[in-house]
Amino acid sequence: MQVVSTVAQLRAALAGAPRPVGLVPTMGYLHEGHLSLVRRARQECAFVTASIFVNPTQFGPKEDLASYPRDLPRDLAMLERAGADLVFTPSVEEMYPAGFDTWVEVSALSRRLEGEVRPGHFRGVATVVLKLFNQFRAERAYFGQKDAQQALLIQKLAADLDTGTQVVICPTVREPDDLAMSSRNTYLDPAQRKAATVLYRSLCEAQRLYQSGERDAERLRSAIRTVSAAEPLARVQYVSVADAGTLEELAVVDRPALVSMAVFVGKTRLIDNVLLPPAVS
Ligand code: PAF
Repeated sequence: MQVVSTVAQLRAALAGAPRPVGLVPTMGYLHEGHLSLVRRARQECAFVTASIFVNPTQFGPKEDLASYPRDLPRDLAMLERAGADLVFTPSVEEMYPAGFDTWVEVSALSRRLEGEVRPGHFRGVATVVLKLFNQFRAERAYFGQKDAQQALLIQKLAADLDTGTQVVICPTVREPDDLAMSSRNTYLDPAQRKAATVLYRSLCEAQRLYQSGERDAERLRSAIRTVSAAEPLARVQYVSVADAGTLEELAVVDRPALVSMAVFVGKTRLIDNVLLPPAVS
């Protein structure tokens, strides 16, 4: 496995690479969720690449950029074992040289859900992902359904700007107790870690009600809040039942919907989501 850290080295390494090329963009501190993307790329692509870059422009001023977990040697070993051929580990200066001044915004999708509570977040995501798409020119790029809004937004970006990279969205990988895997789970102490299972439990209650015929979106939101309220360590930031394509909030679930939530457990902010009708796994 080759490791490069400048765009020039990356271009040289990709010049003779077999096609199709698959890209797994990450911010490092990898877990099984990331590795599932690498393995999927391994099945579908002749050359598997990944990037590790903690992108400062997608963190708000009060967010966890400085404390975001990092462990490059461990990440590289995991990527090698999962079958990656090339890893790009640029510095902040390589990605954002002095004078950097171009930004990408996927307008409507950026304003909803996560975008409403994390202003500027998706501008940072869209900008860095477009840069990575331009740098790698991969045929396919892999993202997790856990960050459902990010995945939708990147699909829209790829379509609107003709990037030529197919965006593949892969299922959320969960711990044995169904907590969605996330690098931020490492912030949780044992009691908080236990409390964090409330996200998926709450979302499953909405799925259960939907399966038994409930279509009133407000009743689903309220059922999610009721289950979450029983967990004293959890503080719900938002609960959403939205059109799965546009992310507009629904009154009636009369089309495919994304049910999503953000919850603070202590200082750690966690997100999770499920689909209605439930995705068949
Ligand atoms: O999902 C992530 O880890 C990041 O948002 C991404 C897509 C790598 C962009 O920095």
